[in-house]
Amino acid sequence: MHARDGAVFVELGAWKGRSTAFMGVEIANSATDIEFYAVDTWLGSAAESVHDADPDLQEGTLHQAFLQNIEPVRAYVRPLRELSTQAATRFGDGGVDFVFVDAGHTYQDVTNDLVAWWPKVRPGGVMAGDDWTLRDQKDGQRSVRRAVRRYFNRPDCFYAIELWKGTTHPEWTQWLVRKDGGTTTNLVRKMRGTIAAAR
Ligand SMILES: C[S@@+](CC[C@H](N)C(=O)[O-])C[C@H]1O[C@@H](n2cnc3c(N)ncnc32)[C@H](O)[C@@H]1O
Repeated sequence: MHARDGAVFVELGAWKGRSTAFMGVEIANSATDIEFYAVDTWLGSAAESVHDADPDLQEGTLHQAFLQNIEPVRAYVRPLRELSTQAATRFGDGGVDFVFVDAGHTYQDVTNDLVAWWPKVRPGGVMAGDDWTLRDQKDGQRSVRRAVRRYFNRPDCFYAIELWKGTTHPEWTQWLVRKDGGTTTNLVRKMRGTIAAAR
């Protein structure tokens, strides 16, 4: 994706800032004027035991750890400490170029983020996330995959979901959807309509 000056990027779920720092470095090297928001409650995710066991979370120093870790690229990051769905209300529809979804991973969490943030993505923009095949700790379901497919592959609105491995950890496979301004979607709708009419 080639970003323009004035582009708005949002990361949902920053934890201790690893992905935030990677993005910060990319933005610094791009010499492009990008507003990059990192959204997190810094309270961890209720349904993820790996979070509960984390010393920074237990001691209430998670936000501090995040700030420390992103220090070298701090000038390129605008942290928003709140619920991801609440943060969405700060942005106008079509005002965001790129949203990376990595906050809560339950089916409901991911669905809430898609519902809140997809309208914020501008035509030509991108929404993506990781943990495509991660299994929910409670019900063993692949909640991210289920939520993303349900949201983007509806009969009334169909978007192609691209998958990117890009990691040695298969569960972390990344998904990506481009908002095409209607062309592909309308074409698919039209094709579906034609097929339905021909049945
Ligand atoms: C998997 S971690 C993010 C990891 C980070 N993107 C990385 O790759 O280093 C998920 C983060 O989402 C946050 N989180 C979970 N649910 C949230 C919500 N509804 N709103 C905001 N943050 C949330 C948690 O506090 C946690 O820090």
